[in-house]
Amino acid sequence: MPNIRRIGILTSGGDCAGLNAALRAVVHRAIDGYGWEVIGIRQGTAGLLARPVDTQPLEVSLFDGNLLRTGGTILGTTNRGDPFDYPLPDGSRIDRSEEVIDGYLQLGLDALIGIGGDGSLDILRRLAQQGGINLVGIPKTIDNDLGHTEVSIGYASAVTVATDALDHLQPTAASHSRVMVLEVMGRDAGHIALSAGIAGGADVILIPEIPYRIDHVAAKIDSLKHEGRNFALVMVAEAVKRDDGETVTQTQPGGAVTYGGIGHYIGERISETTGAETRITVLGHVQRGGMPTPRDRLMASVFGVHAVDLVARGAFDRMVAWSSRKVVDVPLAEAVAGYRAVDPDGALVHTARGLGISFGDR
Ligand code: F6P
Repeated sequence: MPNIRRIGILTSGGDCAGLNAALRAVVHRAIDGYGWEVIGIRQGTAGLLARPVDTQPLEVSLFDGNLLRTGGTILGTTNRGDPFDYPLPDGSRIDRSEEVIDGYLQLGLDALIGIGGDGSLDILRRLAQQGGINLVGIPKTIDNDLGHTEVSIGYASAVTVATDALDHLQPTAASHSRVMVLEVMGRDAGHIALSAGIAGGADVILIPEIPYRIDHVAAKIDSLKHEGRNFALVMVAEAVKRDDGETVTQTQPGGAVTYGGIGHYIGERISETTGAETRITVLGHVQRGGMPTPRDRLMASVFGVHAVDLVARGAFDRMVAWSSRKVVDVPLAEAVAGYRAVDPDGALVHTARGLGISFGDR
């Protein structure tokens, strides 16, 4: 058993609902359960690059109020500034990994718990390997694309927001006899679109894992019209390509390039091919904020407690995971390497087809 007295925790990558619930669980287990000190590292790895290192001691009393119920992360986070490929203002890139490791070592920590998605956990693992850091990972991502866990914190809340959006769009679609296109996040995976599309009664779901043709989408909308339906709901994942194969991206102020805008393209093409009046909603970051659902709070609590127990056992370089109704842990290397897109032959695609939902592929 390692002699642990003081651990660090950070949130990294894009935020999501449920991070504060995970921090709360870690703090309770570490302090109440083991009598350790917990140091929060602010802004992910950026906090370890800052001098002095940007930290916040975490106490149980901090979590007495409403933090369990809140979105965001009280520690802050970043999904920019990979320390191995750090962008400088002149456009060049340098390796700042040794500075991050030095920042970590300055804190005198015995272990680090990192809450992240595939990209940020991969970076944390490389830092841990290089710097001899005792690391345990907790999976979070609204994109739900991390391998070796059936659950990542934030996904359930994002699906709830996207489902609510369809619930809000359906009455106005029916009132105006329109086709409503809803574009949702998910990065390269279509998990949010698929789950929320089924739960929210979409007629068409377009995901990057299943190539579509606009004439098939148009045929589905025409068939609904012939059946007497005056509206349709079309769910589009942000990474779906145009039908000429081009990806639609946005350059954000500051230069970051993100997915965004395919919904407008699909809406225009539906309008051209069917004559329907279309309206587009790009849901964006509302999927990341908001109150975590009970499911996300529960999983965040389970993962936080288990992550601390792993540290206590000295089981490092592992990620906590959910599998077959149990909390387990898996090698971090396998988790970050095991990217999980939507399975086009999987149960949810089968369910959607069984409901008559079109993927635009036939
Ligand atoms: O990975 C989470 C995610 O929300 C993706 O679904 C989305 O493509 C991306 O982050 C948006 O990133 P940003 O917060 O930089 O706009």
